[in-house]
Amino acid sequence: MSANIKIEKTQNPKQKPDEENLGFGRYFTDHMFVMDYTEGKGWHDARIIPYANLSMDPACMVFHYGQAVFEGMKAYKTKDGRVLLFRPRKNMERINVSNDRLCIPTIDVDFSVEAIKTLVDVDKDWIPTAEGTSLYIRPFIIATDPFLGVRPSLTYKFIVILSPVGAYYPEGINPVKIYIENEYVRAVKGGVGFTKTGGNYAASLKSQMKAKELGYTQVLWLDGIERKYIEEVGTMNVFFKIDGEIITPSLEGSILAGITRDSCIELLKSWGMKVTERRISIQELYDAHANGKLEEAFGTGTAAVISPIGEFNWEGKVITVNDGKIGEVSQRLYDTITGIQNGVLEDFLGWTEEV
Ligand code: COI
Repeated sequence: MSANIKIEKTQNPKQKPDEENLGFGRYFTDHMFVMDYTEGKGWHDARIIPYANLSMDPACMVFHYGQAVFEGMKAYKTKDGRVLLFRPRKNMERINVSNDRLCIPTIDVDFSVEAIKTLVDVDKDWIPTAEGTSLYIRPFIIATDPFLGVRPSLTYKFIVILSPVGAYYPEGINPVKIYIENEYVRAVKGGVGFTKTGGNYAASLKSQMKAKELGYTQVLWLDGIERKYIEEVGTMNVFFKIDGEIITPSLEGSILAGITRDSCIELLKSWGMKVTERRISIQELYDAHANGKLEEAFGTGTAAVISPIGEFNWEGKVITVNDGKIGEVSQRLYDTITGIQNGVLEDFLGWTEEV
């Protein structure tokens, strides 16, 4: 599998963290994958090396102009010891969509998936097995030219690091409270809202801090022009169940095409439920709540999995959903997706790949 990947194993394996207290993104495994890009030569020198600091010129373009993209996926260990990845090709196809928008050279999807599998195999003892845990995989690409003019870099690094994780939100599967942002916006059509680039997250911090001060876990973004239509939640796509129908904002260029979002749509359809991708305004959500038709709300994402939403705050008006309890559809989606990911349920849609 690793024909073109050099592997150098660590001489100093780290102590593994307590699986019951992983949190999210705090611990990193013993190895990382690195590959370089040089204009005229393409991607080269694929290698797995001991996890270590990078040594970089302070003039590297990523530090100044933010030319960088990332992905997030997870590996799971099944009860019978197999290691599964969930739709990894989708992630690597999506990184190329981000690459294209950020003028970063694309990478070969098959090769990058093989590289990730090889790295996960090297560090497979790090995959936690406690309930609700997994090995989070973070591939990313950064511009490394030491140059202060504004243009695409001529050199890059593609790096993959691994982190054993528990739930992204301290609430776990319990409903989160979401603050609806009316002042700041995350993205506009024609911008980079549909890509996974660090700037989208940097731009979200101000609102996140405001929400936190008010006792909310995350922010729900409205569209950047009219502040009228619902876009997405900080690290998740968002779904609503209104009068029996599942509605999620359509992909119109300013929100992320989530892989968990796509998986939920497919699952819901396979269960015969009505799922609609369309624009939905915040007023429509408020009215549905006022008329007793807002039955459920939940977010979806690789890190967040399925995260039920128990409350929204829109300009001081509180929208309580399903009495702040997890809804039937959210629970079923959570159980099915995590069941397929962990190899407990039959993978009837062919989503998992074995390492
Ligand atoms: C993911 O869900 O994998 C993400 O990339 C969200 C991240 C910003 C925590």
